[in-house]
Amino acid sequence: MDVIFDLKTLREKIRFWKKDGLSISFVPTMGNLHAGHLSLISGASEKGDKTIVSIFVNPIQFGHGEDYEKYPSTLDHDLTKLGDESVDMVFAPNLNELYPAGIESDTRVTIPALSEILCGKFRPGHFSGVATVVMKLFNNVQPDFSFFGAKDFQQILVIRRMVEDLLLPIEIVSMPIIREIDGLAMSSRNSYLSKVERASSVEIYSVLVQAAKSLSEGFTSIDEIETQSISTLAQKGFDVEYCSVRQSLDLATPTAGNKNLVILVAAWLGETRLIDNIRLDLS
Ligand code: PAJ
Repeated sequence: MDVIFDLKTLREKIRFWKKDGLSISFVPTMGNLHAGHLSLISGASEKGDKTIVSIFVNPIQFGHGEDYEKYPSTLDHDLTKLGDESVDMVFAPNLNELYPAGIESDTRVTIPALSEILCGKFRPGHFSGVATVVMKLFNNVQPDFSFFGAKDFQQILVIRRMVEDLLLPIEIVSMPIIREIDGLAMSSRNSYLSKVERASSVEIYSVLVQAAKSLSEGFTSIDEIETQSISTLAQKGFDVEYCSVRQSLDLATPTAGNKNLVILVAAWLGETRLIDNIRLDLS
């Protein structure tokens, strides 16, 4: 496994592989790797000839006062984990490598509308920050396939839209959410939870499962389900940003007859922001 820190070496390697006609699978991450990340890597290594993982905590996707400064950076530990996986290259650039003109430099990729709802409403600029760094990485890694987790459901739709609109010849592959045994979706941010909060955190998934059940039974309206879910979470000590039933295709508000739905939630437990979602096929 090669570990590369600069764009020049990355580009040389890619050129070499492309010349040999090898396909490239790419998994972008911010590190602090857990089984969720590893599931993307295992999907990626089955699909392409070469697998590249990037590790970079991207400052421009964090808002002011968010957790950029304390985001867990565990490169040595991550590299040890990746050593046991089918990974051909790890790209772990420093800030200057990806933002040579500084993070205030003006060029940004924006995906209007889709970036402004749900998480985007509460984290203005977040998805533009994600799209910009992913575009920088795509431009250099030049993957044939790139793997993302359904845990960040809105993020995948934003990336898909970027790929479609900018005509990038990249297949975006969505992988299922990996959960702890008690149902909590794995996340690098789970390490912020205190013991007590960790015990309460399972409520997010329980509420989603209950909401999905009520929706599929068809007796309760979407409005009621959203209201009930928010109030249950509030009772359990969460500060809920949103809990919303949407069409899974484009996150639009469902209309009668929509069969493919997703229930998404974002809520704070103390200082930790948790997100989760559950898909629902009513057909
Ligand atoms: P990060 O949070 O490190 O996540 C990297 C990838 O792992 C994302 O595609 C995310 O959806 C996926 N992932 C995280 N937890 C998961 C879980 N429990 N099950 C399945 N997949 C999971 O998402 C980012 O980084 C950044 O925004 C990035 C795309 C790297 C751009 O900076």
